[in-house]
Amino acid sequence: MTQKLSGPEKFIEWGYLGEHFSKIKTEHLREYFREDPGRGDRFSLTIGDLYFDYSKNMIKNETLDLLIKLAEKVGLRQRIDDMFSGKKINTTEDRAVLHTALRNLSGEPLMVDGIDVMPLISGTLDKMKIVADRIRGGDWKGFSGKQIKNVVNIGIGGSDLGPRFVCNALKWYSDREINIRLVSNIDGTDIVETLYGLDPEETIFIIASKTFTTIETMTNAESAKEWVRSSAGNTEFISKHFIAITSSRENSELFGISPENTLEMWDWVGGRYSVTSSIGLLVMISAGYDNFISLLKGFHKIDEHFKNAPFNENIPVIMALIGVWYNNFFMYGSHAVLPYDQYLADFPAYLQQCDMESNGKSINLEGELAGYHTGPVIWGGIGTNSQHAFFQLLHQGSRVVPADFIGFAQPLNDQGDHHRKLMANFFAQSKALAFGRTGNEVLKAGIPEEQIPFRTFPGNRPSNTLLFTRLTPETIGMLIAIYEHKIFTQGVIWNINSFDQWGVELGKSIASEIAEDLTSEDISGNDHDSSTKELISVFRSLRDVDEGN
Ligand code: F6P
Repeated sequence: MTQKLSGPEKFIEWGYLGEHFSKIKTEHLREYFREDPGRGDRFSLTIGDLYFDYSKNMIKNETLDLLIKLAEKVGLRQRIDDMFSGKKINTTEDRAVLHTALRNLSGEPLMVDGIDVMPLISGTLDKMKIVADRIRGGDWKGFSGKQIKNVVNIGIGGSDLGPRFVCNALKWYSDREINIRLVSNIDGTDIVETLYGLDPEETIFIIASKTFTTIETMTNAESAKEWVRSSAGNTEFISKHFIAITSSRENSELFGISPENTLEMWDWVGGRYSVTSSIGLLVMISAGYDNFISLLKGFHKIDEHFKNAPFNENIPVIMALIGVWYNNFFMYGSHAVLPYDQYLADFPAYLQQCDMESNGKSINLEGELAGYHTGPVIWGGIGTNSQHAFFQLLHQGSRVVPADFIGFAQPLNDQGDHHRKLMANFFAQSKALAFGRTGNEVLKAGIPEEQIPFRTFPGNRPSNTLLFTRLTPETIGMLIAIYEHKIFTQGVIWNINSFDQWGVELGKSIASEIAEDLTSEDISGNDHDSSTKELISVFRSLRDVDEGN
């Protein structure tokens, strides 16, 4: 019986790519650059404030041609149109996928289930502005009449990582009089440490949860409520200290937050794609309305580019296709993201959710097992700190990790010689990874012969470089949108649904069963495996040991 192929392998280009891979797999980037002195310029693209270099990749013209033909064969163009036009491409949840509508600055109507969603979006933006302006202007007062100075976002996953990354990325543009904090972990330490030193009278909470049922967020929200209540001593405080962002008004009302203090989210915005929705309220409070609109403009610029540029000039498409090339032919299983800017320290964590929750799937759109690798492990850290941590493995480890270097030509904090040195490292690392150092070069450098094997660098370790003019709200919007569309493109190639996340369900339901077993008197009925059973019993006995004994 022959296996039914429903993924990219059913296209002839996949086979051609396999043959092409066999031919080029032993070639070296050193040769590519030697043979083609114009390669650096040829394999680069500019859009607005971004210069994108993809020349240090294991690709030739033929590679890209085949990859682009594959993208055409899988119907990428149609799928892009389907997404932008509001078709229900999230098939397992029967939902449209319309984060692009949130930054649709064209003014064109966009229909979902017969309703134009654009007025809903602009109405919510207006409401966000009112809230943000009141807090920023010092007009939002707490229960005792004191001005609000601290804004604490309680959320998790997309309701935390997006605002966390963008608030930190735009810190330079923020109002330093407002103290922005975020709580996500159900570990009580998170909320205790986050609230440490804050005055409840001056603190407002944003409870950010699309569903308003997520256990981590609701547990933290209840603790926050109690924290304010114990200080306020009455029940009037909620309207002054709590704002909800949710698609479930019923649930936020049950918690006690009135409709006036509730900002809307929609089921056609996925959590990890939601930072330009009302989930971005924290960003607007911190950086202001105008900067938030500039952020949207950056997203919109890339949305238009992704929608309209031919695939061979389309940055997200090229990044996605090169990623597929490494993932499915070279079999490189992870991808590093390396921002060279302190303000982007949270970007790897943000991207981990965006990419791994989207493309960490092994069942295809037809509900069958995909017979090929899908999303890689995404990891990384900021330069130059990472150079003194995990770069050893990137340079000389037994696994090859393709990487993205992200940097800015102009510093926001022009501090002495720092930026020149930072950027020298930025350029040096991708060069060292690509070209390495041969045994001969080691010898020429005067290094003793016996050390040659240890001091040789194989090179051929590929990377992209994204060099922006300056870190601005607009360039941050561009950066995120590039990765969103890269992830979408890869999901299309792999024939998976990038917009559901059933993989997070099982652990959640087991946790709620186990929560009972941790406290109940009688655990004889629990039928866990012997490991889990023992662990729970050891935990119970350790927890109950009297510390004084
Ligand atoms: O981890 C699963 C998940 O549903 C994410 O996709 C989402 O971003 C997060 O939980 C938070 O969900 P909510 O906004 O509904 O609280």
